[in-house]
Amino acid sequence: MLFLSSVSLVLVSLPVLLGAAVGAASPACAPLPTPLSQPSDLPIISHLPDPFSFRLSDSRVEDRADWECRRAELKTLVQEYLWGYLPDHAQEVVHTSRTGSNITVTVSVADRSATFVANITFPPTPEDDDNELDSTSDRHVPVVISAGTYLAPVNITPFLESGVAVVQFDVNDVGNDSWTRVGEFWELYPDRNIGLMGVWAWAEHRILDALELVVPELDFSRVGVVGCSRYGKTALAAAIFDERITLALPLSSGAEGIGPWRYYYESQGVAEKIENITTKYGYWSTTELWKFDNVTGNSTRVPFDAHELVSLVAPRAILWDEGQEDWWTNPEGSVSVVFGAAKVVFDALGVGDRVGVHVRHPPDDLHCGLAAYSLVQPFLQKTFFGTPTTVSFDDISPFPPHPEAYPWSTDVPQL
Ligand SMILES: *[C@@H]1O[C@H](CO)[C@@H](O)[C@H](O)[C@H]1NC(C)=O
Ligand SMILES: *[C@@H]1O[C@H](CO)[C@@H](O)[C@H](O)[C@H]1NC(C)=O
Ligand SMILES: *[C@@H]1O[C@H](CO)[C@@H](O)[C@H](O)[C@H]1NC(C)=O
Ligand SMILES: *[C@@H]1O[C@H](CO)[C@@H](O)[C@H](O)[C@H]1NC(C)=O
Ligand SMILES: *[C@@H]1O[C@H](CO)[C@@H](O)[C@H](O)[C@H]1NC(C)=O
Ligand SMILES: *[C@@H]1O[C@H](CO)[C@@H](O)[C@H](O)[C@H]1NC(C)=O
Repeated sequence: MLFLSSVSLVLVSLPVLLGAAVGAASPACAPLPTPLSQPSDLPIISHLPDPFSFRLSDSRVEDRADWECRRAELKTLVQEYLWGYLPDHAQEVVHTSRTGSNITVTVSVADRSATFVANITFPPTPEDDDNELDSTSDRHVPVVISAGTYLAPVNITPFLESGVAVVQFDVNDVGNDSWTRVGEFWELYPDRNIGLMGVWAWAEHRILDALELVVPELDFSRVGVVGCSRYGKTALAAAIFDERITLALPLSSGAEGIGPWRYYYESQGVAEKIENITTKYGYWSTTELWKFDNVTGNSTRVPFDAHELVSLVAPRAILWDEGQEDWWTNPEGSVSVVFGAAKVVFDALGVGDRVGVHVRHPPDDLHCGLAAYSLVQPFLQKTFFGTPTTVSFDDISPFPPHPEAYPWSTDVPQL
């Protein structure tokens, strides 16, 4: 039986994957300056930066080709100032084996190697299908990758009930969630200036390589990533830097995720600032982010904001869930400001239905409330199966709209 046997395969990565991994621009794009500016030399931008304006030149996006160059520029800026540069996948070789539900991933770079394990859970066989062999070889089910730990509560049942397989792994095996550089990633790249959000996103990419090699039951045109809080930031990073991911579901992701660096609404509770996250969790980001503090310039100098992180996922699909009173994650900013601004970009690209938001209301609005996993299913079912839904994923209530945060929305290019 396939499930009990062990299959071993190797993937030698192709140079063509490099562009997808690090966001290299096409030759037609203007070259970026090197080195990029120090954070304290970047201009203050008080409202959400215009996603259609190049940061490193004076021009504005006018067509699709320009947008691709702008995306490449943004991917560079996001790596430079937020998560750090992801490794060059062209230098990596991925080996994998499958034993039962375990997928062992080994990544080699020159004479170094890293090994970690993920596991896969398949959805139940449909009742009208009594042939077990078919159920594992012919169904080609979508898959969602969920970063987490053995301890962090997640609810994978809604995905399985939707007919989607779930792959899980413990992020600590890859990069321990601490200032200590312990974990398999650091065996490969001991000195790299990269935050753990980038490290864990890299792990999701390498798991996807492995799944492609040893799990033929999956449909690789329908691949999602999901996670809450720090694992939601990870899901967003993973989707931005790997075009194979077609759906991102960051839940309660906050700062360094969907939470904006600009626009806090704190009448009822404080929200996390850049200096909070870079002091307590500085190892989640590149050290460049630490320079955007209240002395050298503050977060209004960050040359992008969360709506642009979201827009980098387009034309693929993204939905995020926020707890209404989960103040630390800046829910009003994440919902009204970031969704409103990102929707303008998705609309301009003709894919306005691929971006959505969900607000969990009291009393069910705790940080990482498990109900979120069920509540995002209608969007997942629409994206993966075309299932119609009556749920409105642009309902931002009780928050008001904040179009003042994105004044450039009155001048949108025809893409
Ligand atoms: C799967 O991996 C887990 C932890 O990595 C291990 O405890 C378990 O024994 C493995 N199962 C099989 C069938 O190899
Ligand atoms: C799969 O991995 C996750 C995360 O490491 C773990 O919590 C879960 O128990 C594992 N499931 C199985 C069936 O081994
Ligand atoms: C791994 O991180 C945890 C906190 O997430 C910490 O308690 C533990 O000491 C770390 N382990 C090592 C070896 O640094
Ligand atoms: C967050 O940073 C601010 C300074 O901007 C500080 O006043 C506040 O105490 C910090 N909050 C926490 C929980 O560390
Ligand atoms: C950050 O910059 C803005 C814009 O100049 C300014 O209004 C605000 O006071 C600054 N905040 C801090 C904490 O320095
Ligand atoms: C900057 O913020 C830190 C705490 O995050 C605080 O200790 C320090 O006094 C602040 N400095 C200025 C110049 O506001």
